[in-house]
Amino acid sequence: MSGGSMLYGGDEIGALVFDIGHHSMRVGYAQEDTPKAEIPSAVGVSEDGTMIDNLDPEKKPDPSSITTSGRKYYIDTTTLNVARKGTEVVNYMKDGMIDDWNLFEKVLDYTYSKCIQSEAVFHPVLMSESPWNVRNKREKLTELMFEKYNVPAFFLVKNAVLAAFANGRATALVVDSGATHTSAIPVQEGFVLSQAIVKSPLGGDYISMQCKQHLQDNDIEVIPPYMIGSKEAVKEREKARWVPKRNIPEVTNSWHNYMVKRVIQDFQNSVLQVSESPYDDKVASQTPSVHYEFPNGYHQDFGSERFRIPEALFDPSLVQMKGGVVGNTMLGAGHIVSTSVGMCDVDVRPALYASVVVTGGNSIIQGFPERLSRDLSVRIPSSMRLKLISANGCSERRFGSWIGGSILASIGTFQQMWISSQEYEESGKSQVDRKCP
Ligand SMILES: Nc1ncnc2c1ncn2[C@@H]1O[C@H](COP(=O)(O)OP(=O)(O)OP(=O)(O)O)[C@@H](O)[C@H]1O
Ligand SMILES: [Mg+2]
Repeated sequence: MSGGSMLYGGDEIGALVFDIGHHSMRVGYAQEDTPKAEIPSAVGVSEDGTMIDNLDPEKKPDPSSITTSGRKYYIDTTTLNVARKGTEVVNYMKDGMIDDWNLFEKVLDYTYSKCIQSEAVFHPVLMSESPWNVRNKREKLTELMFEKYNVPAFFLVKNAVLAAFANGRATALVVDSGATHTSAIPVQEGFVLSQAIVKSPLGGDYISMQCKQHLQDNDIEVIPPYMIGSKEAVKEREKARWVPKRNIPEVTNSWHNYMVKRVIQDFQNSVLQVSESPYDDKVASQTPSVHYEFPNGYHQDFGSERFRIPEALFDPSLVQMKGGVVGNTMLGAGHIVSTSVGMCDVDVRPALYASVVVTGGNSIIQGFPERLSRDLSVRIPSSMRLKLISANGCSERRFGSWIGGSILASIGTFQQMWISSQEYEESGKSQVDRKCP
């Protein structure tokens, strides 16, 4: 691809970076410090009533026409947050990979027209993918980007590799704690050692679930703002006095639950902290409490639960899943890391322990990297040098992979790596297997 660097080099045409996860998609221009937009991966979907109403009552509606053209989509926080009759919340991600392609396309359409406000044909696209993404999904995505969006160039990179780059490392053990899982991914010279990936389903969503359970057990009602008309100030721990909003449309359970989850996530982000050493009731009861007020006006101090709830991330023996399943088969964060490193070649282990990169939204819980460091230091030989690397700022930690993509897409030597549209036309979607490791 001679002359490629002139054509795609950072400044001439701005490359776009997409970092995709269960919680959200982060998108923006390469070379910038933070993404331009963060769009929830949950989308509101409703069957458009008007289509059905207009049909001849004698004639049976054709289900395919209702499900394809008769659907309405509510994308991004502002529209998704409006209470609407019959709108279900659907996520296009599953197991870290794109699953509902139709929905994903709707979100991409929205992103280009409303967030980027430019045409796809002008911008090379670098996308992140889960380290365990599968071949047919990678090819399908490549096909989609070239065939539907006509991008001039495309590239796929494992999100863990990008997070390592963002922290200035080509070799690292990346600990990514996101919404749906926490994983340890060894990266050597920019390549994922995929046979040594270790993951657990304990991430931010699990913590949200535990918070919900805790609040329920303590008779603390979580009322999302859409239900509240007005409220009065009450004393600490006093029953909330609020008036329901009138004329609320008939919302679905999935939409209501999503709104409840948003309140719980705020609680989780504001209140929780990981204990410095394995949780112990005595120590936790002596640490400062945090005051929190719910949307309906109820407020109180939260004490030992602040530490007890996230403790399961490090000690899964405390995990109680639905149906009474106990999490003793899962691994805590420290155990995940040492298991993963243990599956790598002896020669690379020191380099991995010397660069343990902590990333992902759930790792922002106060104290997460410190506790991981402590748990690891008791697991590994004392002769091994251990260094944890975690960005200080919340956004740097949450957007680690996006930032890595922003850096990678703008460096000179990367420009020859892109799959160009010409290469795609000549050799097809399997280019992604050849060019993107
Ligand atoms: N300030 C915060 N404090 C604590 N947790 C937070 C904070 N901000 C976000 N989170 C949690 O981080 C999680 C989202 O993390 P992240 O954005 O890394 O996920 P993702 O990459 O979209 O999802 P996944 O990795 O599961 O595909 C959510 O569960 C959210 O509750
Ligand atoms: Mg993630």
